[in-house]
Parts: sequence; structure tokens; C-alpha cells
Amino acid sequence: MTGRRPDAAGRAALALYRDAPWRERAHVHVRWWSAPFRRLEPLLPATGAVLEIGCGHGLFSAYAAVAGPGRRVVGVDIDADKIAAGAGAAARVPHLDLTVAPDGAVPAGPWDAVVVVDVLYLLPAEAQRRLLTAAAAQVAPGGRLVVKEMGASPAWKVRWNRWQETLSVRVLRITEGSTTFTFVPPDVMAGWLREEGLAVTATRLDAGRVHPHHVLVGERAAGWGQPTSATATT
Ligand SMILES: C[S@@+](CC[C@H](N)C(=O)[O-])C[C@H]1O[C@@H](n2cnc3c(N)ncnc32)[C@H](O)[C@@H]1O
Repeated sequence: MTGRRPDAAGRAALALYRDAPWRERAHVHVRWWSAPFRRLEPLLPATGAVLEIGCGHGLFSAYAAVAGPGRRVVGVDIDADKIAAGAGAAARVPHLDLTVAPDGAVPAGPWDAVVVVDVLYLLPAEAQRRLLTAAAAQVAPGGRLVVKEMGASPAWKVRWNRWQETLSVRVLRITEGSTTFTFVPPDVMAGWLREEGLAVTATRLDAGRVHPHHVLVGERAAGWGQPTSATATT
């Protein structure tokens, strides 16, 4: 259970929703137990500007803000109802903002980190790639893009995840998005990030879990965007 149980910052983040309606409170608690947030938070820089794209009710953004008081965290989502549900939580943390992203636009950076947690599978593959390209463009030199999605193996975890997502999106209607899911294999997505000039590491996060959790971290070189010595002398 280590790594799943909320730590002090996790408990504090969940407590931010104490005045929310029971449905939202239940949702953020279920979300905490189903997602490996404790493994993701240390992948963010301890200080600086952090953008979460597709933050939903804002639980991971809230956790990142509480765990890292030196961070300024902005969470955006296309779903105005979810942002409204997180508004009470965000109001309690001065360095946390949750806001609606009209048409899914990526807010201009530079961001020291951009994080995307379980969002891309709701979009067709080309739209996933466009969103990652737009996100990568806003990562500061020396910054990183953290992409948490589901992996492509083992088959039983992939089947379990598809069944659960079908329930959430089509039956319970908890999540906005297309009613088909596109799980792009992590190695394909890693290739997209490399084409955006990021140095990528891939890590499975599914040990002891029924979902095939997986994370890619794309790092932007500190000197990115500066003229090389060859360019500078011409
Ligand atoms: C499964 S939820 C995950 C929410 C949150 N990241 C978490 O881990 O709890 C996916 C979220 O992505 C949002 N979303 C889908 N497409 C988006 C886009 N293009 N831009 C921003 N948010 C998007 C949905 O509205 C939904 O809230």
C-alpha cells in the first residue's frame, strides 16, 4: 500500500475538498487511490511554474501545490463544471489556480514543468500529438514535460483499464471526451516527444496496481533556443 495511501500533502490536498458536494468528494478520493500521484509529484521541479493540462477537479494540481510551496501551479481543463467543482479547493491555496482552457488551448509559458495526467487517451492520436507539440513548445529551457498515460501491456491490465474507462465515460459520464479511447503505445509517444527536441525517459508505474500506469518525462535542454556557437559566429 506504500505509495498509494495519501501522504501528509495528499491528505491536505484531499481536505481542500471538504466543503464540496459528496459526489466531488467521493470522486477525488477514488481518483487518489486509482492514480499513482505520489510517484508523479517528485517528477516535478521543487520550485517554479507548473502547468497541468486536463486537471479535472484539480486534485493533482492541488497536491503538487501543497507538496511544493515553492511552486506556482496552474491547472486547466476544458470542462467548466470540473473547474467549478475544484474552485473551493483552489481558493484555499494561494499559489494554485484552476481555470477553464477554452477549446483546449495551452496557456503560454514558459513553464518549468507541464504535466498531463490521463488525458490524452480521450483524444484521437493526431489530436494527442498536436496537444503534446503545443505543450512542449511552452516548456522552458531546463524544464520538463511529464506525461502520465496507460501503457500497452500486460494485456489483462489494458483490458481492465478499457472496461473501467468505458464505465466512466459512457455510462457514469464522469469524464468529458470522445467515447472511444486511443491508447498510444508509450514508445510511439516517446518518439513524438523526441521529435519536439526533448530527452525522454520512460517508467512503468504499475507494480502492485491493476491499471497499466506509465509515465514519460521529456526534458528540455537548458541551452535550448539559444544560438549555437556555430550559428553565433556566422
Ligand atoms: C480522466 S480525467 C483526468 C483528470 C486529472 N488529470 C486527474 O488525473 O484526475 C481527463 C480530463 O481531461 C480533460 N480534457 C480532455 N481533453 C482536454 C483538452 N484538450 N484540454 C484540456 N483538458 C482536456 C477532461 O475534461 C477531463 O477532466
